Amino acid sequence: MEVLKNRKTLQDFIERQKEMGKKIGFAPTMGALHDGHLSLYKAAREENDLVISSIFVNPTQFNNPEDLRKYPRDLNRDILILEESGLVDAVYIPEVQDIYPEKTESSHYDYDGLENEMEGKSRPGHFDGVGTVVEELFRQVKPDNAYFGEKDYQQLAIIKKMTEKKQLHIQIKGVPIYRAKNGLALSSRNQRLREERRETSKIIYKTLMKVNDWFRVLTVSEIKKRVQDVFDDQQGMQLEYFLIADEKTLKETDFFYKDRAYRAFIVVMVDGVRLIDNMHLD
Ligand code: PAF
Repeated sequence: MEVLKNRKTLQDFIERQKEMGKKIGFAPTMGALHDGHLSLYKAAREENDLVISSIFVNPTQFNNPEDLRKYPRDLNRDILILEESGLVDAVYIPEVQDIYPEKTESSHYDYDGLENEMEGKSRPGHFDGVGTVVEELFRQVKPDNAYFGEKDYQQLAIIKKMTEKKQLHIQIKGVPIYRAKNGLALSSRNQRLREERRETSKIIYKTLMKVNDWFRVLTVSEIKKRVQDVFDDQQGMQLEYFLIADEKTLKETDFFYKDRAYRAFIVVMVDGVRLIDNMHLD
């Protein structure tokens, strides 16, 4: 596996691959790799000649400096995981100046309103930061296909929108949420949870499963009340939000229309760690 530590080495590598006509699959990450990331690489492996990943903890997408400071970083461990997986041909590990040559600032994006829902309300500026880093990485890596987890479903929708609006000619592929055996969605943030907390946090997935049972049987407000009740009974967990949204517009719904697809979204604070999850309802 090639470890590309700056923009110039990446550029030379990409040029060589493009000359050979290689189809490139790309999965950007912020490191702290886990099996969820490996599922992105597996999907990329199946559809491309070459798989590239990147590791870059993007400062502009953290609206909370404490969250940025506490974000788990262990580059040596990540490189080992990538090597051992045998799924990745090259990893790009840029420095801040490779991505932000002038100011470490995000550009402003219009994602046709997708940015104003859910995480956009809770984390002001977050999606401008995501758009900025992903657009820059796309321009440098020049992939044919790019892979993102459905755990961050709104991020996936926003990246699709940005790619379309900027006419980047990259296929954006969503990869299903990878869950631990107990159902907890895998996230780099889980590393900050104590073992027993990881176990009790399975309630998030279990609740989404129940929501799926209640879908079109109960009203939206009845479902919301039940979800709130579940978390009111959990010590050390606070429900930040739970809502059901139209899967296309990501706008919250208070009524189930017949021919529309819906998805449930949840954010729970567990011992100061912010866990997010979602589920398509059928
Ligand atoms: O999902 C992530 O890890 C990040 O938001 C991404 C897409 C790598 C951009 O920094």
